[in-house]
Amino acid sequence: MYEKVAKDKFNKLHEEYDRRDILILSIESSCDETSIAVLKNGREILSNVISSQIDIHKKFGGVVPEIASRNHLMAISGVLQEALTLAKVKLTDIDAIAVTYGAGLLGALLVGVSFAKALAYALEIPLIRVNHILGHMSANYISHTDLKSPYICAIISGGHTALLKVKDLDRFELLGTTTDDAIGEAYDKVAKVLGLPYPGGPIVDANAKLGERNIIFVKKSALRNSFNFSFSGLKTAVINYIHKMKQKGQEISVYDVCASFQYEAMEELMTKAIRACKKYNIDKLSLAGGVSANSYLRSELSKRCEQEKIKLYYPPLVLCTDNAAMIGAEAYNSIITGKNLSGLDLSVDSGMHLKNTNRN
Ligand code: KG4
Ligand code: ZN
Repeated sequence: MYEKVAKDKFNKLHEEYDRRDILILSIESSCDETSIAVLKNGREILSNVISSQIDIHKKFGGVVPEIASRNHLMAISGVLQEALTLAKVKLTDIDAIAVTYGAGLLGALLVGVSFAKALAYALEIPLIRVNHILGHMSANYISHTDLKSPYICAIISGGHTALLKVKDLDRFELLGTTTDDAIGEAYDKVAKVLGLPYPGGPIVDANAKLGERNIIFVKKSALRNSFNFSFSGLKTAVINYIHKMKQKGQEISVYDVCASFQYEAMEELMTKAIRACKKYNIDKLSLAGGVSANSYLRSELSKRCEQEKIKLYYPPLVLCTDNAAMIGAEAYNSIITGKNLSGLDLSVDSGMHLKNTNRN
């Protein structure tokens, strides 16, 4: 019974999306942020409440999955109330529920997905499944309503690194991906070995500003002629450098290590992203994922893109790292394309990859 009602309502939303206002309540719980947002027409944020567990996981040097699940469970009802209050809407005003079902931590995803199912069932409204990685990409549609395909997108987060040619709202070509670590993962690991707290990205970013780029870690990237990435070699070279310096009893400049590591990591990314734009004759480039918050990347790539006459898009800081508003934006794309309606049998997909999405 629920499934039929939800399907009819979803079809109606798909048919009428350009003629009426649609309110989506979206849920994100894939890692260490419990977030719920209310979006009007997938682009206007009425509320975007983010309850971060960073301080809880900091003392362990990274996210502890079981602790993350428990804290999602404790936070989610309060986050929902706050999201509704800030948006000044009632649950009965909502047209559809959207939820991240992968990629991410299994137990953490299960909390969001179970909560979303219960809401959709109780309210008798459609449940839309959202791929977290595509959610990051769609954060740009909120802040840049002029962004239209085709464009190149660099997905740079703690779990993923990829270059895509976006052809349409639901079609893309995967040009390259990381062969080992994600770029954010490399930031986090380098920070850890330098004794800096989790998450490493923002701290390495800040420290790099105070340092000199005077250490060469990897002379030539092995993948320089492809659109694939490798960050594990660079990360290992940084770790080896630190160990060697310690063995010799020499002082390490944390600032210089951060500046030099960041330069090499970002060079790999920026060169390939610009090369992809040129190869496919595309003059738009977007950044998506936590690492797009990086201040050096935002300023340096802006300069280079201006020289190359490429328009660069990146989300405001709050939409770079994990948040539910981006999940709502991507769910709205699904309403436009009429895809990704889910039943109550929706399961989580912890190890989801971009090549497994229906956007190929
Ligand atoms: O997208 P995100 O919030 O979670 C995943 O989906 O992975 O990305 C988190 C990653 C972490 O690795 C974090 O260190 C990195 O984004 N990050 C940064 C910065 N802010 C967050 N990396 C470099 N510079 C930053 N300013
Ligand atoms: Zn993320």
